[in-house]
Amino acid sequence: MITVAILGAGIGQQHLTGYRALPSRFRVATLCDLDPSRAAAATGHDANIRIVSDIADVMSDPDIDLVDVCLPPHLHAPVVIQALEAGKNVICEKPIGRSLAEVDQIQAMIDKTGRQVFPVFQYRFGLAFAQLKALLDAGLAGKALVASAETHWNRESDYYTVPWRGTWKGESGGVLLGHAIHSHDLLCKVLGPVKQVFALSDTRVNDIEV
Ligand SMILES: NC(=O)c1ccc[n+]([C@@H]2O[C@H](COP(=O)([O-])OP(=O)(O)OC[C@H]3O[C@@H](n4cnc5c(N)ncnc54)[C@H](O)[C@@H]3O)[C@@H](O)[C@H]2O)c1
Repeated sequence: MITVAILGAGIGQQHLTGYRALPSRFRVATLCDLDPSRAAAATGHDANIRIVSDIADVMSDPDIDLVDVCLPPHLHAPVVIQALEAGKNVICEKPIGRSLAEVDQIQAMIDKTGRQVFPVFQYRFGLAFAQLKALLDAGLAGKALVASAETHWNRESDYYTVPWRGTWKGESGGVLLGHAIHSHDLLCKVLGPVKQVFALSDTRVNDIEV
């Protein structure tokens, strides 16, 4: 049985649903959020889940095996490193860090502590990718010469009222680091690492910084 603390009650609520579907493997003991009422509502006011607002309370709790980071992007790498240092294994929402340097710091802490970090790229477990992988594994796909990935998601101004979104400081990037990161991950998973990047980008609809 793995005892879990979730940090962040936004998408963290859906992570909780995932753990609840596997009750023989996971027990969510704590949900941490600066907004305790949001956290309590996210659990459905479940008395078995402790609500805390200070991340330090999670890190110092010896019962917690796994820290699940569902915080805004700028907190990911620092909190992942803090959790590893506290001897926890970690799940972290995308993006795992804001730079390769941050990811290197996480890797160094994994090497030092022997703990594990599981980044969230849930599309790798979707049906379409499973079908593509089956074709590749069967040797039917041939050599990839050209690929394209498109992300068409609509996010309107209310989505960007959350203060961290749309900012360099909070979100650390725009659609490329947020929404399109999933299809870029799949592309790299199939075709291998990027050698060169060329980009044209523009912010056309929402009045945001990134
Ligand atoms: N994998 C996916 O498809 C997917 C989908 C949605 C969001 N995400 C990612 O999940 C992360 C969170 O996104 P969200 O939509 O849930 O954001 P959100 O703003 O709705 O929720 C984040 C929560 O973190 C809390 N928080 C912020 N700072 C804190 C701190 N220091 N201590 C405790 N709590 C703190 C906030 O109060 C807020 O409730 C982002 O990195 C986002 O990119 C991934």
